[in-house]
Amino acid sequence: MAEKKLSGAGLRGQSAGQTKLCTVGKSGSGLTYCGYDVSDLADNATFEEVAYLLFNGELPNQSQLYDFKAELLTQRDLPQALKEVLKLIPADAHPMDVMRTGCSFLGNLEPEVDFSEQNKASNRLLAVFPAIMCFWYKYSHHGLEIDCVTDEDSIGGHFLKLLTGNNPSDLHRKVMDVSLILYAEHEFNASTFTARVCASTLSDMYSCVTGAIGSLRGPLHGGANEAAMDMIQKFSSPADAKVQMAGMLQRKEKIMGFGHAIYSESDPRNVIIKAWSEKLGQDFGDSSLYHISVACEEFMWDSKKLFCNADFFHASAYHFMGIPTKLFTPIFVCSRLSGWAAHIMEQRSNNRIIRPSADYIGAEPRKVTAISQR
Ligand code: COA
Repeated sequence: MAEKKLSGAGLRGQSAGQTKLCTVGKSGSGLTYCGYDVSDLADNATFEEVAYLLFNGELPNQSQLYDFKAELLTQRDLPQALKEVLKLIPADAHPMDVMRTGCSFLGNLEPEVDFSEQNKASNRLLAVFPAIMCFWYKYSHHGLEIDCVTDEDSIGGHFLKLLTGNNPSDLHRKVMDVSLILYAEHEFNASTFTARVCASTLSDMYSCVTGAIGSLRGPLHGGANEAAMDMIQKFSSPADAKVQMAGMLQRKEKIMGFGHAIYSESDPRNVIIKAWSEKLGQDFGDSSLYHISVACEEFMWDSKKLFCNADFFHASAYHFMGIPTKLFTPIFVCSRLSGWAAHIMEQRSNNRIIRPSADYIGAEPRKVTAISQR
């Protein structure tokens, strides 16, 4: 029988360490990276600037950004051995397993020998994740061996071009960039905490990130955007959405893309991606999925006071850009890598192995009886 949920279950409400990287639910719109409000960053910065900010604590000036982007551009291609491994992974594999394997295998080919190489390793992963995802996807689903280098200057644009083979529109490029900013960092969430626990043992960057990908894979964390997409696609209209959701709540089903462990009234990322989803729907020429999503949002607030988290309107936004649902969570990896790597570096800079205790609720002390007596 399941144990009763304790008030501190899931370490809720407890501080598990210090960080200079992010606040959640404290100031500004509710989410800040190194003191900057996420809405300010989404309006006035690019994802590369945000990644630089997380890695270095300050936004780059023009020449620092130029050098950073130039370095990332040279790091985009995949080693042939990694391509061969990706070609072996079947089309029905979970794309997050592909990301996990891609990261782990790259760690065999290009190990982080010591921590002086941490920037090299994190830049490499930032540059290469879109190609790991798209190379596998295009090969396994369409039999195509794509060129992993594009002339797209931004990581978001690069991903879209790898996926479609075409130059993305300015709107799509912009929304991908905003999306990568919104997903970049979120304090001690489950995957970041996984990365920090691993880093606290003085393990290497690739092991920390591989573990974090495993945590992000679950539907209660990164997998929620895909689950939200699967759900809204089943609704034929806003009215149908409300009827079906009422049934789901009655059956005590969790509605993916709603609720949050820290925010209590709204997720500051939602209003941003929701506005872009509306624009994308108009551009797509069929906004019905957007209107269905709005009906879901209204229904959940009216009936349970539950609000959309960052994942919910990402589902329709990605769909309007023609991104296959199974790639939604891997995109999250391409973005959150920036937060994970920054936390790994921060943990290393002032490390003590993370080793909490547990409240014991098992059997009283007892003696082993001979096997013949049991
Ligand atoms: N759908 C239906 N009910 C929900 C819900 C959801 N998405 N999120 C929370 N609730 C309900 C819970 O059932 C619980 O009700 P109860 O007290 O009657 O048991 C109550 O609200 C508190 O939720 P709880 O699961 O304890 O919150 P949490 O802090 O442990 O979990 C999440 C937070 C995010 C894991 C949770 O809201 C969730 O599972 N959401 C769906 C997955 C998702 O979108 N994840 C992405 C997070 S960014």
